[in-house]
Amino acid sequence: MANITFSSPKMKKDVTVYATAGDTHTLLLIAQNNKIPVEFECENGECGSCCVEVQILSNKTPMGIALTEKEKVALRLAGKITKEQIADAEEKDLPPPYRLACQFIARNEDVLVKF
Ligand code: FES
Repeated sequence: MANITFSSPKMKKDVTVYATAGDTHTLLLIAQNNKIPVEFECENGECGSCCVEVQILSNKTPMGIALTEKEKVALRLAGKITKEQIADAEEKDLPPPYRLACQFIARNEDVLVKF
């Protein structure tokens, strides 16, 4: 079970939703299901419009960071991730600060999502 807290100047207050264990929905789908106004266009990891800041709140060692190839390209083009951050994510499981909501799948850890 993971708490996903969405925070944005577009919302009157932060909203926390619960992703159940084994839930493989993307952050974007979870946001849409809870009427949270995360921007999106392609829903396919290509346009970069759903870029959000993701902060892991758990004290545990971050779980495996899975960036899709599309996500790496879109974040690089948007200037939201460096080659070093991609390497750190893949080799050391260090989470990068920005993710694409349409590609990120919440794991069993609490996160704060800013957009
Ligand atoms: Fe286009 Fe996520 S909606 S990259």
